[in-house]
Amino acid sequence: MHFKVTPSRIVDATVTVPGDKSISHRSLMLGSIADGETTVSGFLAGEDCLATLAAMRAMGVEIEQPTPTEVVIHGVGLQGLEAPDGPLDLGNSGTAMRLMTGLLAGQSFSATLIGDESLSSRPMQRVIGPLTKMGAEIDSNDGKPPLTTVGGKKLSGITYEMPVASAQVKSSLLLAALYADGPTQIIEPAPTRDHTERMMKAMGAYLYLSDNRVGIQRVRSLKACPVRVPADLSSASFVMLAALLSDDADVVISNVGINPTRVGVIDILQGMGAEIHLERPSLLGGEPVADLRVRASRLRGSHVDPALVPLAIDEFPVLFVAASAAEGTTVFSGLEELRVKESDRIATMASGLKALGIEVEERSDGAVVTGGRFSGGSVKSYGDHRVAMALAIAGTVAGDEVTVRDVAAVDTSFPGFVSCMRSIGANIDVEEDEGSG
Ligand code: S3P
Repeated sequence: MHFKVTPSRIVDATVTVPGDKSISHRSLMLGSIADGETTVSGFLAGEDCLATLAAMRAMGVEIEQPTPTEVVIHGVGLQGLEAPDGPLDLGNSGTAMRLMTGLLAGQSFSATLIGDESLSSRPMQRVIGPLTKMGAEIDSNDGKPPLTTVGGKKLSGITYEMPVASAQVKSSLLLAALYADGPTQIIEPAPTRDHTERMMKAMGAYLYLSDNRVGIQRVRSLKACPVRVPADLSSASFVMLAALLSDDADVVISNVGINPTRVGVIDILQGMGAEIHLERPSLLGGEPVADLRVRASRLRGSHVDPALVPLAIDEFPVLFVAASAAEGTTVFSGLEELRVKESDRIATMASGLKALGIEVEERSDGAVVTGGRFSGGSVKSYGDHRVAMALAIAGTVAGDEVTVRDVAAVDTSFPGFVSCMRSIGANIDVEEDEGSG
């Protein structure tokens, strides 16, 4: 499957984008081990979260989904999960794999976690290492999936200084700590998204938070609470990009999560001259939200502050495209983690942008992008949803037609991407590859 994008006139509009992926995953895992019924609204019915949903069902949790975005989880309590009949297939989702490994490390039964080709090549030692220190036993394929968590292990709390800033690692350890004797303390090299901490607190977990430390004590039970999932800022950033690059559009994206640990993309774009306003700020459940009003802007190249990287970790495909359309040069550094995402995003974005005529100098920890004009052309997404969507937006302002190949993975995080983009005027078609189907 591929996208065909032709030069587009983005129009004034108010749109919504699907629910937050990180919060949707967490609602399923925490709701499953809470006591009582967790109702989730605004759930992201994307393939990644549906893989987590299927995995929790396979461990005996009754989960209803009366509509795609509403989920009711009948929690089984901390000790209520059951051994699955077969391996749990987590598809493309690194979040599902890393968090689930923590959740399963202290269970009485063994379980095997598998994933697709991309997930099977992603590093898992970062969770295996500290979980093993807690007493878990996890078999792997040389630090990569499949992973098997061995049942019946007694876990003990640890103090762990994380070598990389990773919310997935932090969350994995917090989930394992619910089953560990003694307190666990996690020290982060830089702040990362804190959705797990917020939801665990709302469910009655005993957490203490200071600057760069999260401490957690075992509790007897978690209590179900309603979860209202804000729209995903990571998905909203593709709409923001299209509006910013347009001639004169004024686009509002409603009810988007603006948790301070996620807003790096807004700060970086504003630093490049983007006109983005946060309107009607409020709290949705325990998470801050606002409407994002984005106006067409003349972007300038900048030196992106590496301290903002963990706060914008999923938005660099968008930022690379913004830099390509900006006046002057943008320097990205501190992006080593991008090399182990759904694809090596420094390499895959550099390859796509170069194919569209942009000058990109790839570096081991980032890139230098010189702003220019996108030409038409054919680019690969390398099966990476965010690369596919970012390059599709580049197509809206390219000199000629842009084909983005291998785009099926877009459904992992942004079902409805094409209709959402069409609603603001993007000329984008989805076509089957010749010779397929
Ligand atoms: C996520 C954390 C990030 C992010 C991923 C979702 C999460 O990964 O890239 O898409 O939900 O915790 P890392 O924390 O490993 O950087």
